Amino acid sequence: ADVTTFDPGYVNTAIARSEITYIDGDNGILRYRGYPIEELAEKSSFVEVSYLLIYGELPTAEQLEAFDQRIRRHTLLHEDLRRFFSAFPYDAHPMPVLSSAVSALSTFYQDALDPFDEEQVELSSVRLLAKLPTIAAYANRKSQGLPTVFPDNSHGLVENFLRLNFGFPSEPYEIDETARKALDLLFILHADHEQNCSTSTVRLVGSSQANLFASVSAGIHALAGPLHGGANSAVLEMLQGIKDSGEGVQKFVERVKNKESGVRLMGFGHRVYKNYDPRATIIKKTADEVLGKMGKNDELLDIAHELEQIALSDDYFVSRKLYPNVDFYTGLIYQALGFPTKMFTVLFAIGRLPGWIAQWREMINDPETKIGRPRQIYTGAPERAYIPVEER
Ligand code: CMC
Repeated sequence: ADVTTFDPGYVNTAIARSEITYIDGDNGILRYRGYPIEELAEKSSFVEVSYLLIYGELPTAEQLEAFDQRIRRHTLLHEDLRRFFSAFPYDAHPMPVLSSAVSALSTFYQDALDPFDEEQVELSSVRLLAKLPTIAAYANRKSQGLPTVFPDNSHGLVENFLRLNFGFPSEPYEIDETARKALDLLFILHADHEQNCSTSTVRLVGSSQANLFASVSAGIHALAGPLHGGANSAVLEMLQGIKDSGEGVQKFVERVKNKESGVRLMGFGHRVYKNYDPRATIIKKTADEVLGKMGKNDELLDIAHELEQIALSDDYFVSRKLYPNVDFYTGLIYQALGFPTKMFTVLFAIGRLPGWIAQWREMINDPETKIGRPRQIYTGAPERAYIPVEER
C-alpha cells in the first residue's frame, strides 16, 4: 500500500507505549517512573535510579544493597577483552572503543544471549552496568598512555569509576567527595530520556531480536554524534574556540544567527523541550558549585554565562524556542573533574546505560513489539531499460 505519512526525524511518530520516562516539553517536566527529576537529583543515587528505571519501583534497602553488590561482583573484564585496548591506535577516540568493547561482550558471553530468557537478560544487564565504567576508564587511560588499575569492589560504582580513571596501581586513592557527588548527579540526570536518537536505536536494533550487548553497542554509536551526546564535548570546543579566537561572544552569536557554514550554538535547542530543559537548570547550579570549589575554568564558565545571557535575550533564539540543554554546562564540570574532552560523551553513555537497558527490556517484553521497519516515499527514476556498458 502507498505510504501517506511522511515524518522525517520521526517528529510525530510514537515508536512505543512506555511506562518509563515522562517528558512534558512545554513545561520543562521530566520524571522517571513518575518521580520528578529534581527530587531524584537531590535525594537518590545513580545505582538506585538505575534500579528504578529497570525494575519500575524504588528498591527497599535490602533490594538496593543486593543490586549494588551484584554490580560490584561483575566489574572485572575478561583478560582477553583487556587485550583489546592495546590493539587500537594510541590516539583512538574512546567512543568507538567503548562501542567495540560492548559489542565484543556478546562474544565472551555467548551462552547467555537469549533475549527471551529473563535470567540471561538480567545477567547481561548487570554485566553491562558493572563493566561499562571499567571499559570506559580503560579507554581513557589507554588514550593517555597511563597504566590501568583493576576495579576494587570495596568501592561503589561511581567511586570505583573515579579510581579507575585517576588512581595509580599500588597507590591508595582518596575519593574526592565533591567529584563523586557531582558525577553521581550527572549520571542520574542522563539516565533516561525516552525515545531520543540512541534509545530508539537500541529499541530498533533490539526489535530484530538482536541481543542486549549488540543493541547497546549500536546505541553508543548513535550517542556519539555531535547533535546528540557528542554535543557535550562540542560545547567545550566551542567555548575554548571563542576564548582562543578572541572574537568575543557577541560576534560568535552573530555568526550563529547568520547560519555561517552551519555554525550552531552547541548545547542549545532540543527537539522536545521548548521552554527549558530541567536537567540544564540543575546542572547550571552544580557547575557553579563544583567549579567554585575546584577553582577551575572560570574563564570558560564566564563565556558560557555570557553566551547564555545574550542568546536568551536575542529574538533569533527566543522565536525558535532555543534554550540551554543538558549538554551546555556538563562539559565544564567534566573538565573540572579532570576528564579529557574526548571522554565527555563516554560519561554520557555511562549515565544513559540504565535507560537503554530498561527500554530494551520493555521493548522485548511488549507483546505489541514488531520489528522496526519504516517505509519510504520513492523519488527515484521510473522503470527504464538496461543499457550495455559499451553503448553508454
Ligand atoms: N543553534 C542555532 N540555531 C539552532 C540551534 C542551535 N543550537 N538549534 C536549532 N536551531 C535553529 C535551526 O537552524 C532552525 O532554524 P530555521 O527554522 O531558521 O531553519 C530551528 O532552530 C529549528 O531547528 P531544528 O534543527 O529543526 O530542530 P531539531 O528539533 O531538529 O533539533 C537539536 C534539535 C538538539 C538537534 C538542535 O537544536 C541542535 O542541533 N542543537 C545543537 C546540538 C546540541 O546541543 N545537541 C544536544 C541536544 S540535548 C542532549 C542530547 O540529545 O544529547
